[in-house]
Amino acid sequence: MSPFRLTRTLPKDATEAALRADVLHGLTCSPKTLPPKWFYDARGSELFDKITELPEYYPTRAEREILAARAPEIARATGARTLVELGSGSSEKTRHLLDALPGLHTYVPVDVSESALTQAGHPLIAERPHLNIHALVADFTAPLLLPRTPGPRLLAFLGGTIGNLLPAERAAFLTSVRALLSPGDALLLGTDLVKDESVLVAAYDDAAGVTAEFDKNVLTVVNRELGADFDLRAFEHVALWDAEHEWIEMRLRSRTEQTVKIPALDLAVDFAAGEDLRTEISAKFRKQGVRSELATAGFDLTRWFTSPGQQYGLALAIPARTTAARSPDFARITACVR
Ligand code: SAH
Ligand code: AVI
Repeated sequence: MSPFRLTRTLPKDATEAALRADVLHGLTCSPKTLPPKWFYDARGSELFDKITELPEYYPTRAEREILAARAPEIARATGARTLVELGSGSSEKTRHLLDALPGLHTYVPVDVSESALTQAGHPLIAERPHLNIHALVADFTAPLLLPRTPGPRLLAFLGGTIGNLLPAERAAFLTSVRALLSPGDALLLGTDLVKDESVLVAAYDDAAGVTAEFDKNVLTVVNRELGADFDLRAFEHVALWDAEHEWIEMRLRSRTEQTVKIPALDLAVDFAAGEDLRTEISAKFRKQGVRSELATAGFDLTRWFTSPGQQYGLALAIPARTTAARSPDFARITACVR
């Protein structure tokens, strides 16, 4: 096998159809919303990488700090021969895991952004000529077919991207991840933690305006792909802390009353002055909540690592033994006692 393969599991027409469906649904419902996966064209991926270097955006640094310190322990605990990473982006922090896993056979980065996968992949091949890399352009919220590779598998979902899913989406996602794993495999889940509102809001509304540009990039994507006429200057980027749901909301607020035309959908969308379009939620977590969401999906939390100041949490979890799996053991034990 060549050390680098890229498989597109998303044909271009399926991606276009999904965008049309999301935009039609999201802009005709109230309140208006768009799913965050559409931020990440080549420019959006580049802007996200810039965000990770901003002084206000602490999650990347905090997670990197944990990985740098704990990758050897994670490697010993999992003995992974395949590392699958969902929403891998630049794969920059993943290097700590790649370096720590001595028996690693294949790395499977999975992302909707093909540009992120190819940009991340090329330096990785140059640095690790013996590692097989099988990149998948895929939507992790859809059913995922992983390549046949040696186990045990470690499935990493880093960056706090789980927080970009709504609670019901998270439950469905974690359940489908559980179905991909077998006994002996493990899940490594990065979660940003609840903290002071001012720190959170600043992380999503930075002084240099990079997050605002990232937020508005979704409008550029809709303009380019669906021929829409969003005027980016007519929207203001807003970041709000929702204390009840414990999530940040990013919104684009219409500065004026306006109508946006989307020819590919034969649609005209009215915005009132001050009306918001929600572009992302970024949920923040507590250890108990993470444990309980994992348990509901069939995982046992086995290790919990936090960054200094408890800013960020990294959970290592394994497939729980199901009741069905437990009963034969129980039967065997009682048989011995008798
Ligand atoms: N894991 C990296 C990148 C996080 S940014 C880090 O921690 O820095 C979120 C990444 O997830 C982006 O690369 C984006 O393209 C990808 N992504 C977002 N929604 C996705 C989806 N539904 N399916 C697959 N990838 C997705
Ligand atoms: C990818 N995801 C975890 C980022 C976050 O923090 O929710 C996306 C992001 N949005 C604005 N800044 C970064």
